[in-house]
Amino acid sequence: MTSTLLAVPLAQVETPLLAVALGQGSALPPSLAELERSAGGVLGRAITSGDFKGKRDEAVLLYPSGGKAQRILLVGLGKSAEVTRSSIRRAAGVAAKRARSLGATQFAFAIAPEARNGVAPTDLGQVIVEGAGQGAWAFTELKAAPEDPKPEVEAVAVVCDAKEATQVAAGQKIGEGVAAGHQLARYLQMLPGNVCTPSYLADRAKQLAAAFGFGLTVLDRAAMQKEAMGALLAVAQGTQQEPRFIVLEYRGGGGDTAPVALVGKGVTFDSGGISIKPAQNMEDMKFDMSGAAAVLGTFEVLGRLKPRLNVTGVIPSTENLPSGTAVKPGDVVKSHFGKTIEIINTDAEGRLILCDALSYVRKFKPAAVLDAATLTGAVVVALGHVAIGVMGNDEVLINEVRDAGERAGERCWPLPLWDDYRELLKSDIADVKNSGGRGAGTIAGGWFLREFVNGFPWAHLDIAGTAYTDGEPPHQTKGPTAIGVRLFTEFLLKRAEA
Ligand code: BES
Ligand code: MN
Ligand code: ZN
Repeated sequence: MTSTLLAVPLAQVETPLLAVALGQGSALPPSLAELERSAGGVLGRAITSGDFKGKRDEAVLLYPSGGKAQRILLVGLGKSAEVTRSSIRRAAGVAAKRARSLGATQFAFAIAPEARNGVAPTDLGQVIVEGAGQGAWAFTELKAAPEDPKPEVEAVAVVCDAKEATQVAAGQKIGEGVAAGHQLARYLQMLPGNVCTPSYLADRAKQLAAAFGFGLTVLDRAAMQKEAMGALLAVAQGTQQEPRFIVLEYRGGGGDTAPVALVGKGVTFDSGGISIKPAQNMEDMKFDMSGAAAVLGTFEVLGRLKPRLNVTGVIPSTENLPSGTAVKPGDVVKSHFGKTIEIINTDAEGRLILCDALSYVRKFKPAAVLDAATLTGAVVVALGHVAIGVMGNDEVLINEVRDAGERAGERCWPLPLWDDYRELLKSDIADVKNSGGRGAGTIAGGWFLREFVNGFPWAHLDIAGTAYTDGEPPHQTKGPTAIGVRLFTEFLLKRAEA
């Protein structure tokens, strides 16, 4: 999807669909008076009849009796005083989804100035394009075309005041980069496990490296053995699929400035292994590479936007399957870090592959390390599908991540890694065990990782609740959410500015 800028009055916008975002309120905002006149009073009638109230996610489609827009879609932003970047992004998503279902190949999006609540013009350009890309996305590749195929939504036109055009356009550029990364991440997430294997992810990393000139290192099983990645190899020993350890290096900063490292869990299918999962919803475990998708999506954004900093992406990737060669409950393995691990539950595999990655990244002397992983079902119990669970060893970094999440519309909520919880991981036989039992499951996962973090500020994002949706949300397509792409991007762009 592309985007264009229209620095003209609303009534002059010629389009199959003009989406106008409004806050909650009783009257038609004065800024829409001219559009209202040309549209034959259709906006006012929708409002005075009470059919449109401006609530979040509300959308009312109108057919104006005159003017240049074939259709007008009023989209609700919620209470005007609470409007943020995220509400505008969301409204653009709602509009794009409607454009798609209407079969409109393009649409225009405007926000009533009265509803903007001080959101800056660059932010406006950015989030409208992000939201539009998100709402218009669909995965159709593996189905025969329907008899009445809906065309792609090819473009969004951002309508703005001429005085702000330059700034809106600058934000729009960022939005286009983010939308592209978002699209890649969702696509990779959506692909089934028999297509999106560890070597497939490595191939996609290779394509990114070739397209944007990133450094790339890919370790196969033999190379992992040389590296003594005993925990990752323990998970990988049960499957015929070759595991991959993928390292991407983006150098946009000065030669030797310390990179930010992004680590993503890349379990391309998680059956649980010998500690096998129930069959119900097991197919969703193709999404267990969502952290990896977030890293690759972010590299797409980096390649396009080229911010001034260095970033290293690390993806440990394998399947987790039961077999005659699979690792067993009770087995003890030696990690890359050197600590021994008693594997109590082979379904706690994410932490096993991540601990070797967190150990490996020491060689880059990173300024900060963020990992994203669909690590625990328990985070869904704690936070539902609304927030990422964040933990780490550095309060300042955790707050920086939370601020980025807020800007990104990917909110994080902290869980404590107090010493008391370390007890959960005490093993009778090894330095640490990989599962702590029923209580505090997300924290136990975080604490396990912390055992392998040494020498850098680190934050862990448990995205198991936010990586995909079961139902159809109003502003995005059902399924993968590309969670992490926007948060990582906001985090990195802010660091690049500093
Ligand atoms: N990939 C799962 C976590 C998960 C659950 C992701 C639901 C998305 C939705 C992870 O590998 C896992 O199985 N975790 C176990 C850990 C336990 C055995 C300590 C879990 O959450 O049950
Ligand atoms: Mn598992
Ligand atoms: Zn898993």
